[in-house]
Amino acid sequence: MLRCDIITIFPEFFREAFDHGIIRRARAAGLVETKAHDLRGWTSDKHRIVDDRPFGGGEGMVLKPEPIFAAVTELTGSARRESYSPQTRVVLLSPQGRVFTQERALDLSRNATQIILICGRYEGVDERVGEALVTDEISIGDYVLSGGEPAALVVIDAVVRLLPGALGNEDSVVNESFSEGRLGHPQYTRPPEFSGLSVPEVLLTGNHAEIARWRREAALRKTQRNRPDLLK
Ligand code: ADE
Repeated sequence: MLRCDIITIFPEFFREAFDHGIIRRARAAGLVETKAHDLRGWTSDKHRIVDDRPFGGGEGMVLKPEPIFAAVTELTGSARRESYSPQTRVVLLSPQGRVFTQERALDLSRNATQIILICGRYEGVDERVGEALVTDEISIGDYVLSGGEPAALVVIDAVVRLLPGALGNEDSVVNESFSEGRLGHPQYTRPPEFSGLSVPEVLLTGNHAEIARWRREAALRKTQRNRPDLLK
């Protein structure tokens, strides 16, 4: 069982998100448990303040360390990453993180039993969170979101579908995009002719060797065109 705890100032953002498709099935099957926690629940002042102005000046606000330390301490039992259980990972979602890949999703799905996701906000998060608590700082790509919440959803989706038993058919992971450092092959379904557009003849022949060859070549052409960086 994988446990995912999200620390956010918008817990409602996640309410419906885990109620569909594979994540819903994985929860029902007891493969994963998800919980979104309100960061303000770990404040101790009357106004439940989670942010403050940056030292050194500048625009915007920074998430304060104390509520995040309190949250992670309660959820892991420690305020230092060296003392977590080896299967605990504390992820900070931020545009300054290492870019998330299928390989990192596979690592989390195989090696973690508890993932805590801290959603960054405003202009950033006090760096002491990264220094003492975070095991994995993750960016989902080279663009800036208004907060880490959509990124946390992306990471959870990519990890949960890789948990053994989450997908109906295990090959669907083996043959998919990125599993061999290239994109997946194009797919077609019925009808064979539609609006003047036809399905490649070879796919209708039942010749499995020829079909496999066509798929390899088509996947390579698509990778060359859309993602030449993967072929380097
Ligand atoms: N927060 C803001 N932008 C982000 C990104 N690209 N990835 C993860 N978290 C973020």
